[in-house]
Amino acid sequence: MLRDIITYPHKILKEKSKEITLFDNELHTLLDDMYETMMHKSGIGLAAIQIAVPLNTLIINLPNKDDKQEKEDLVEVINPTILEMDGSTLYTEGCLSVPEYYEDVQRAERIKVSYFDRHGNEIITEYDGLMAIAFQHECDHLKGELFIEKLSYLKRKKFEKEWKKKIKGKK
Ligand code: CO
Repeated sequence: MLRDIITYPHKILKEKSKEITLFDNELHTLLDDMYETMMHKSGIGLAAIQIAVPLNTLIINLPNKDDKQEKEDLVEVINPTILEMDGSTLYTEGCLSVPEYYEDVQRAERIKVSYFDRHGNEIITEYDGLMAIAFQHECDHLKGELFIEKLSYLKRKKFEKEWKKKIKGKK
């Protein structure tokens, strides 16, 4: 089922998500809905809080080398922990909760993470490239943080001005 994506500055996006303890049908439905909603909006990542569900889960589905988003590449992440971070990289990020806004963000280049899959199996692995960037971006959502909070003071000010204008124009 398609769900509505919450956009900035809705205050629910600031909420801290809670640990998942049951790997049941309800969780599977949530994950399926997140996938459908993300694909509908042409996103590559989505955290549950973005559809107003404050639970520690996120999904990432990067395009492959043919630039196709295949479901077999979908990664479902439950209760993630970033165990190690290394290096530094700059990437122009976007977010379905901050539509049509893109800005450079600095993040760790490589990460070691642990999480659970939808059946409760623990996975420990390492990521680099866009996967590492997306993972960090989505984990921030679970802490109630958005990528715009990583901008410099001036860039953030400019963003807020433009965003207010944009919201006003839509009303
Ligand atoms: Co986002």
